[in-house]
Amino acid sequence: MNIGFFMARILATAALALLLYGFIIPSVGFNGTLERIKDSKVEAIPSYTYPLWNFYQKGRYIGINTPQTARYNLKKMIEISEEIGVPSLPVWNFSLEAPNYPKEAFPQGLPVYIHFDGLSGEVHEMNTINHYVGMAPMERGGIYESALAPYALIALAMLLVLFIVYDNKWINRLMAVPILLPFLFVGIYGYWLYWFGHNLHGGAITIKPFMPVILGDGKVAQFTTHAYPVIGFWVLIAISILSLLAWWLKSRALKNQPAKKATPMQHFIMLIALLIGTGTSAYVLKTDMEVDTLGKISKVINASKTTMPTEIKIPEATEAQKEAILKEREEQRKEQELKIKALESRAGSVGKFKVSPMYKSNCAPCHGVSGEGNVGPKLVGLSKDEMLKKILEYKTNENEMHIAVIEYMSDEDMEKLAEEIAQFEAQ
Ligand code: HEC
Repeated sequence: MNIGFFMARILATAALALLLYGFIIPSVGFNGTLERIKDSKVEAIPSYTYPLWNFYQKGRYIGINTPQTARYNLKKMIEISEEIGVPSLPVWNFSLEAPNYPKEAFPQGLPVYIHFDGLSGEVHEMNTINHYVGMAPMERGGIYESALAPYALIALAMLLVLFIVYDNKWINRLMAVPILLPFLFVGIYGYWLYWFGHNLHGGAITIKPFMPVILGDGKVAQFTTHAYPVIGFWVLIAISILSLLAWWLKSRALKNQPAKKATPMQHFIMLIALLIGTGTSAYVLKTDMEVDTLGKISKVINASKTTMPTEIKIPEATEAQKEAILKEREEQRKEQELKIKALESRAGSVGKFKVSPMYKSNCAPCHGVSGEGNVGPKLVGLSKDEMLKKILEYKTNENEMHIAVIEYMSDEDMEKLAEEIAQFEAQ
């Protein structure tokens, strides 16, 4: 047998192994988990998901508020309501530097990692910022693509198996897909960046439509952005090169020696692979139906249309709606309290950045993480009464800069906040 056929098989098998390890196993194994956590159906998460996530977490980014003990421990992460990302290899990193995210507390800036099947990193925090400049939440990007990713990846694996099993020039041409995979990813990623930069609605800070930087450094409002490929991208490049070499070797071998007729053994191996592939896809589909992936997608799409600050201000919100919003706030508050507990239990001190989550997520983006001022003026030095008077005034005259963040705050919350900020100087 021509050595070219043999080598082509070896290289394609290596590409298949990388695809399985880096992307298919983690994305199939984790599919539906975030939805189940959100729906409080943690008991429906299959038990293998835990060690799988913990394993893939090695060496990954960990948020500053996440206790070290929860680091490789999905169970604990769920218990303390920490932000959980998907475990497949991250392909691209997007990070943000701003005066309110000081280097000491955020050595990597505010990073978000883009995966085939979702996101990881400081997604929640990034969404807060996106919200202020009128940008849709990050989950909105590539929402169908990431839901389809497990199926597409399984199909791609089947294609590689076809190539490994049969020697055929038509199958050879299909190798264009794994060869072009990294470019496909960057293309889709670029499309969504464009979409984000050109779908800005009613942020507190108005910025012109713009094209975010795909690779390298950029600037948005007062933020510096960085974007660059990470491990998953280099694995995609490796898959691409292996596929290219395999394709080239086999094309050459096929020119020298016409392919023999496929044997029953080859058909049998292909049949087994197809059964595994369809079985896995069916399993993913079953999970997607159980967690109602499609319903969740339309919710995210609708939410990113209606949660813009200008649209929250509907004057004739019914009592029931108001109550629902208050309830949601209350749940968020509880969640934040859990996070504070986690923070307190963390070994060591977070030093001077001990601000309440209420201040951090509502006021810090504009007034700085320790009240030093940013878009908004410096708050350090104002007394509690001055502060409270201002905020109450803002609430009554629906101050454009503040109404979105204080509209549903109770008087008690506002008083607590004013008291906290008045203490900033002392810290
Ligand atoms: C979208 C940006 C933004 C956010 C969010 C924001 N502020 Fe402001 N804030 C401003 C700007 C800009 C000013 C000054 C202009 C003005 O009065 O509207 C200001 C002024 C103030 C002042 C008056 C300061 C002075 O010296 O008179 C207080 C007090 C204040 N903000 C408190 C808060 C609190 C508390 C929060 C969180 C609940 C908050 N702000 C959230 C932008 C913001």
